[in-house]
Amino acid sequence: MYKLNKFDAEVFLQTYWQKRPVVIRQAFVDFQDPLDEHELAGLAQEESIDSRIVSRQDQSWQLTQGPFDDFTEHCQGQWSLLVQNVDGYSEDAESLLNAFDFIPAWRTDDLMVSFSVAGAGVGPHLDQYDVFIIQGKGSRHWKVGENKEYNEHTPHPKLKQVSSFEPIIDEVLHPGDMIYIPPGFPHDGVAKDECLNYSVGFRAPNQQELLSSFADYALDTTYFQQRYSDPDLVLREKSSEIKQHEVTRLREMLLKMINSNHFEEFLGSYLSRSNHCENEQQNGDMAFEEEEIILMFGNNQSFYRASGVKSVYIENESNAETEVSVFVNEIAISVPKKQLNAVLKLLNQSDWSPKLEITNENSIFFVQLMTTLVNAGLWYPE
Ligand code: SIN
Ligand code: CO
Repeated sequence: MYKLNKFDAEVFLQTYWQKRPVVIRQAFVDFQDPLDEHELAGLAQEESIDSRIVSRQDQSWQLTQGPFDDFTEHCQGQWSLLVQNVDGYSEDAESLLNAFDFIPAWRTDDLMVSFSVAGAGVGPHLDQYDVFIIQGKGSRHWKVGENKEYNEHTPHPKLKQVSSFEPIIDEVLHPGDMIYIPPGFPHDGVAKDECLNYSVGFRAPNQQELLSSFADYALDTTYFQQRYSDPDLVLREKSSEIKQHEVTRLREMLLKMINSNHFEEFLGSYLSRSNHCENEQQNGDMAFEEEEIILMFGNNQSFYRASGVKSVYIENESNAETEVSVFVNEIAISVPKKQLNAVLKLLNQSDWSPKLEITNENSIFFVQLMTTLVNAGLWYPE
């Protein structure tokens, strides 16, 4: 169980979040790495896992995208192996994210783990997202510069870097130390010796991403079928003119979509999208019947959450009296408000036992909920 040591989340949010970088010494006391470099290399061999090796030899940078069969070819000079979404594949690594629950779950993206040999790093660069980088085994020298305009260059087609910057942070981190870097602050971490780093990354959609995902939702559903109409059309002088009131009417058609309850449904689903889930699949032929789940509840069988499950909820103003919309890896579940705390408990722990929550009143609801979760491949019986 990873827990931040003497960390004042309120002060952190007020002073540093999205504002200033900061080093937090001994953020984790007696930090134990949730995995080692051999396990990391194992993940980097998998087709479905996003990994890369960045290396530098005689000032020449290389970046090779995984999966890797043979590491020796790419692990030349000073090199780092970086693996994305490790929380979706390792329960221990995922548990590191629990320490960051002072940031809303929907803002959390993934845990990236890197292994570097002495002298290695990915070079000075800018990131678009906030990041907490935890120092695991070994030590690493971090320099962070001020947030201002920097020219980026590409020493390798897939690698963006900035040239030198004046450091405002210049410190060596040891196991259990952590650095927080907001977007736009240039940084450069150079391994002092063989080291493991854990980067907790966040998501912050931009307008293009939001609109394109909402457009996908609009196309996948039948909610938005209103068509432009103008029975009040009057003769105009020039047929090529688009009148302002027509611009307004078209804009309002779009605004109506965004102002509808469906937009919230879209957001819940979109923001609960997981980068990867361990064994996410529709259980298809193997679907469990509710009767089977009832039997398992009767035997007080435990249920385990797959790695990489993401859940969020929205209290919709119009139905907040009775129902709350909960979203688990894009699946929408309507939860009676009375059951919300028990449901959040189920969603937020890695194993769940029915005896803790089931009452005569809620048993049908929990049977249906667990049947949905198990058949979606998100939870599995013991
Ligand atoms: C790393 O872990 O090697 C890179 C982290 C970063 O600078 O974003
Ligand atoms: Co970075």
